[in-house]
Amino acid sequence: MRSLLFVPGDSERKLEKAFSSAADVVIVDLEDSVALDGKARARQIAGEFLLARGTVPGPKVYVRINELASGMSEADLGAMLPAAPAGVMLPKAGGGADVERLSAMLRVQEAIAGRPDCATAIIPIITETGVGVFSAGTYAGSSTRLAGLTWGAEDLSAAIGARSTRDDSGLFTDVFRLARALTLLGASAADTAAIDTVYPNFRDAAGFAAECRDAERDGFVAKMAIHPDQVPVINAAFTPSAEAVQEARSVVDAFTAAGNAGVINLDGRMFDRPHLRRAQRLLARAGKAG
Ligand code: COA
Ligand code: MG
Repeated sequence: MRSLLFVPGDSERKLEKAFSSAADVVIVDLEDSVALDGKARARQIAGEFLLARGTVPGPKVYVRINELASGMSEADLGAMLPAAPAGVMLPKAGGGADVERLSAMLRVQEAIAGRPDCATAIIPIITETGVGVFSAGTYAGSSTRLAGLTWGAEDLSAAIGARSTRDDSGLFTDVFRLARALTLLGASAADTAAIDTVYPNFRDAAGFAAECRDAERDGFVAKMAIHPDQVPVINAAFTPSAEAVQEARSVVDAFTAAGNAGVINLDGRMFDRPHLRRAQRLLARAGKAG
């Protein structure tokens, strides 16, 4: 999973477009891109679209439901589970306990829809509230459904009363950099994937490419998109390059040749166990990216 493309659940035209993109995952949104009085309509449009689409090759389906406190999550799940989505994205998550709660709700909805137990994965958005940010370290062991952690800046800015998430040069300000860093650490603590947030300014191709590169450098393995044009840029940035794969392979091979030593000399540079782990992770990621 490298690219996850959001699509408003109430737009059949955009649903068509999203599923013809090269995104690894399409996130059908029932939350913030759908107005409150349009929720029922969005469930119906998205549910019918996904059922009609059936199981065909192409992007996997995730559904972003409304937050647990909204009272709408149950209806969202009830409408979407018959279409057998691969996963559910949980907005405004307040910690591992929310993932446990959603997991219990899914168990019921899976039974009603005739789906196997635990067929549906969960990716929470963990930094959209103050409580969420402080709970970033609580996702380990919350559920075997956990397929990654992601973060959001826009809702957090509303929660704390910030007028912008970025400074005049376009860089995230401190609170949002903290949220981003806690997502990387929280994902590591929970042994799951860290997924970078969206880049709303979708006409700014250069800024977007730079943000993708920074995210991959820092440990994110995927990024969310809001526009189809962003998908190929994400896929390129999060697919390890041929050089990176070759370098990782030579590190792994050198350790093997050295009889799995603790530390080796490779062309005048020291490599020890963390470098080996990093090389193995990159090869695993390259394998998944095909
Ligand atoms: N998924 C599928 N198709 C999309 C899309 C998306 N996320 N974003 C744009 N498109 C389509 C448009 O419908 C348009 O298709 P058309 O030419 O057949 O009408 C085409 O791509 C070009 O779009 P463009 O004109 O560049 O942008 P727009 O003004 O139509 O849409 C947004 C801009 C921001 C409204 C749109 O990108 C969008 O809805 N994004 C997702 C928002 C979302 O889900 N937010 C929640 C998560 S933060
Ligand atoms: Mg939101």
